[in-house]
Amino acid sequence: MNINIASMKDLEDLQEVMRSTFVETFGPDNKKEDVEKYIEEELNLEVIKKELITEQAQWFYIEEKGMMVGYLKVNWGDAQTEKLHEEAVEIQRIYVREAFQGRGLGKLLLHKAMEVAKMRKAPYLWLEVWEHNHRAIAFYKAQGFVKFQEHSFLLGEDKQIDHLMKKDM
Ligand SMILES: CC(C)(COP(=O)(O)OP(=O)(O)OC[C@H]1O[C@@H](n2cnc3c(N)ncnc32)[C@H](O)[C@@H]1OP(=O)(O)O)[C@@H](O)C(=O)NCCC(=O)NCCS
Repeated sequence: MNINIASMKDLEDLQEVMRSTFVETFGPDNKKEDVEKYIEEELNLEVIKKELITEQAQWFYIEEKGMMVGYLKVNWGDAQTEKLHEEAVEIQRIYVREAFQGRGLGKLLLHKAMEVAKMRKAPYLWLEVWEHNHRAIAFYKAQGFVKFQEHSFLLGEDKQIDHLMKKDM
């Protein structure tokens, strides 16, 4: 299975996989209007385009039968969504379509993020995960991540708690 580097030519396919996986992940446990608000404000083409041209970020995707089935976005330097450590690397987004989960693709993407962190000589790799996203938390723990902080986050109008987790490099 190959991991590809995403670029501007992938904009629309990325938007589609981002929207689909977001709804699959957060749709069942959240209000429809909160999920829709997030999608409209954060997963519109303008926002994704801006994030794609950011120099301190890199996007990857996995393709199967001509379809993007999972993707990863990592940030470093000022592109990180929290001011924690200038040299750290953040996994901002890691998503695999539901129908393709449990087959090792998530691990493959995570290992790519670790590769970026090691290449950049980052002290650690970190991420934020919703406290009720038990599957993802179990996945990160299994890969050696530990919780080090909590943080509140607004999904639409709903205030939620995220766990910040990190893995030393
Ligand atoms: C979290 C996610 C990326 C994991 O990807 P995946 O392809 O399903 O996971 P993998 O098949 O690569 O599993 C990798 C490892 O995690 C373990 N794992 C996966 N799900 C698990 C679970 N629910 N509980 C415990 N371990 C789990 C697997 O056992 C596997 O370990 P092993 O290879 O040692 O057996 C994927 O489930 C996903 O996209 N979820 C929805 C989006 C999401 O929540 N993203 C994170 C937002 S912060």
